[in-house]
Amino acid sequence: MENNRRPETMQRITTPELAQAFIDEQIAEIRAQVGEKKVLLALSGGVDSSVCAALLIKAIGQKLVAVHVNHGLLRKGEPEQVIEVFRNQMNANLIYVDAVDRFLDKLAGVSDPEKKRKIIGKEFIDVFAEEAAKQDGIEFLAQGTIYPDILESDDGVKSHHNVGGLPPELNFELVEPVKFLYKDEVRVVGKALGLPDGMVYRQPFPGPGLGVRCIGAITRDRLEAVRESDAILREEFAAAGLQGKVWQYFTVVPDLKSTGIRDGKRSWDWPVILRAVNSVDATSATIEEVPYALLGKITARILAEVRGVNRVLYDLSPKPVATIEWE
Ligand code: XMP
Repeated sequence: MENNRRPETMQRITTPELAQAFIDEQIAEIRAQVGEKKVLLALSGGVDSSVCAALLIKAIGQKLVAVHVNHGLLRKGEPEQVIEVFRNQMNANLIYVDAVDRFLDKLAGVSDPEKKRKIIGKEFIDVFAEEAAKQDGIEFLAQGTIYPDILESDDGVKSHHNVGGLPPELNFELVEPVKFLYKDEVRVVGKALGLPDGMVYRQPFPGPGLGVRCIGAITRDRLEAVRESDAILREEFAAAGLQGKVWQYFTVVPDLKSTGIRDGKRSWDWPVILRAVNSVDATSATIEEVPYALLGKITARILAEVRGVNRVLYDLSPKPVATIEWE
């Protein structure tokens, strides 16, 4: 049976030295496991898959085939960052798949949140499996599984699955170098591997991405409003020193319009809802008390810079009774 228990003797990785010892040990283990064979990895750009990729690149270089699927629901700048860090800086064998039209066409007209998640999950597996089929000689599949994933799946707690989860029909042997690490340890290892802070200290981001923040049936123009407003919120939080302090923050654009005035004429546009919460494990969350002046600045920028938007609202609802995401 597969060993899925963290050894009791394993020391918590809290320092660069402990991280380096872990990295050296994993490089040796990966080499022993895969030898000269090729390994496939779905690289989302999230911290777990990025750390996993960086370890494998150190261990086996170009024999890692990292596939980054752009499903059109990523945040502004994310696909570019994956290419910059992994292809340009780490010289990885990175396959970038532009699947934006494919995903958005499948999602057109679908308003039910669970159907949206299913379509995104299934399409992801299909795209990934197609890329896998184009590769010769792959015998291993690497995954950025971390220890809480193992514990939660034991408990049956995790009701949603990250996009990037194992396509079940791909019958490869697994390589899971960070499977015994807690999130804080993954970050320490990521830092020691030289990954940028923006990747290592990234806030949680749902697998279905901005798709669950563009409420109801996704349209390209409203998705653009989510992406642009999210980028402004992140920029302003970073400028105000809140990045890394607030647990999760994002914008939501509902499928709803209200009247406004723009350029002296009546407008009929969407609102942007801001959400900023603190949590330990996402099972409950409290609201960040964002200073009024900062809310005002973010509002002014969104109204000036994001097309099709005429109002900005701040969501004051804790979890429970609300959930963190809107769908
Ligand atoms: P909720 O909205 O349930 O969210 O309070 C709790 C945490 O989970 C994230 N989330 C998801 N993560 N796939 C994911 O990988 C999903 O479908 C999904 N839905 C919610 C959410 O961002 C929050 O951190």
